Amino acid sequence: MQKFTVTIPLSLYIHIPWCVRKCPYCDFNSHESRNGIPEDLYVDALLKDLNEQLPRIWGRRLVSIFFGGGTPSLFSAQAIDKILTGVNTLMNIGPDIEITLEANPGTVDESRFIGFRQAGVNRLSLGIQSLQDEKLQRLGRIHHRDHALRAIDAAQKAGFDNMNLDLMHGLPGQSIADALHDLKDALAWNTPHLSWYQLTIEPNTVFYSKPPRLPEDETLWDIQEEGKKIIAEQGLEQYEVSAYAKSGKECVHNLNYWEFGDYLGIGAGAHSKITDVDKQVITRHWQMRTPKDYLDESKAFVAKETILSEQDVIFEFMLNALRLTNGVPLNLFTQRTGLETVVLEPILTQAKAKKLLVEDPTLLKPTELGRRFLNDLMGMFLIKQ
Ligand SMILES: C[S@@+](CC[C@H](N)C(=O)[O-])C[C@H]1O[C@@H](n2cnc3c(N)ncnc32)[C@H](O)[C@@H]1O
Ligand code: SF4
Repeated sequence: MQKFTVTIPLSLYIHIPWCVRKCPYCDFNSHESRNGIPEDLYVDALLKDLNEQLPRIWGRRLVSIFFGGGTPSLFSAQAIDKILTGVNTLMNIGPDIEITLEANPGTVDESRFIGFRQAGVNRLSLGIQSLQDEKLQRLGRIHHRDHALRAIDAAQKAGFDNMNLDLMHGLPGQSIADALHDLKDALAWNTPHLSWYQLTIEPNTVFYSKPPRLPEDETLWDIQEEGKKIIAEQGLEQYEVSAYAKSGKECVHNLNYWEFGDYLGIGAGAHSKITDVDKQVITRHWQMRTPKDYLDESKAFVAKETILSEQDVIFEFMLNALRLTNGVPLNLFTQRTGLETVVLEPILTQAKAKKLLVEDPTLLKPTELGRRFLNDLMGMFLIKQ
């Protein structure tokens, strides 16, 4: 029986589902904006969606807001301002919570960034991916190196001292030297946060049906190991599988996911995880996936809803928490899942015997070996019903 005794932090995710062009590696819920974007209709729908979902989170205070995509920077500053003003009137927002917006360098300039900032956005996440034109072209990006450099410069000039750069590695035809050069080039901008993703080939993408030639495993390993050293030299500490930050600049929003906090998602295909303390259950629900269905007034916003089983809760908690380099305190498990830690004990004993988890009885923290074989470690918590 689950039992929740402390308040669980709550984040708001706002999904903007359009992009100028679909990238061949991307499996996000993003759609090409060939016939323009119904910005006004979508802003109204988002606020209606939020209004309808309020009873799920009455009185709770937000710790972060995240505009993700798709490409949120395709929206005008006025639209972002209208959304944030609406959120502010409907929800309890502290004066200085983190408000992030994802931006594609091919869609921005300094005046747009200034507008976003005036609307209340205080953190930008720039989808740089690479600073080499040949690689950007291979990734099907709409931007070039120059756009990326201009976007970083414009973001800094607009006063965004809290910023993330998304960079990918393990790209088609990429050598170790290429990848490390790209990394150094991006880090020269003194970013306080870096998301450094290894390219993965996802089902239902162009790269899946026409796979590019990727670097050998040995090269990928060397890129990772050497790259981590370069990032550390720049004063950024790894705190999650792909996330690196200067002290105090970790992403509040993503940390809340990894620490199994609650989040409400609005917008096409957004999903939510909410702890219902009255009913003592954790629920998940998903909004209509396509912009067409989401904007169809004859349809409900929520497409699907489910209550997590005890097995789901255990697995999902571990799946997230073990991504964190320093893990989490063991008692967070009880706070966030409502379950006693005794349910974990047999698996913790096995994982510690295999040297995948540290021995500290107050922590759930992967060892270096555990981080290397993270999927195996996570799989141990997949309890069959
Ligand atoms: C929603 S996108 C970010 C914003 C914007 N849409 C863009 O691409 O510029 C999130 C990030 O995930 C990363 N990403 C997406 N697909 C990936 C894949 N298949 N492998 C590795 N990283 C990926 C990219 O770095 C991307 O910037
Ligand atoms: S711009 Fe970003 S969200 Fe859009 S298709 Fe490319 S990677 Fe995906």
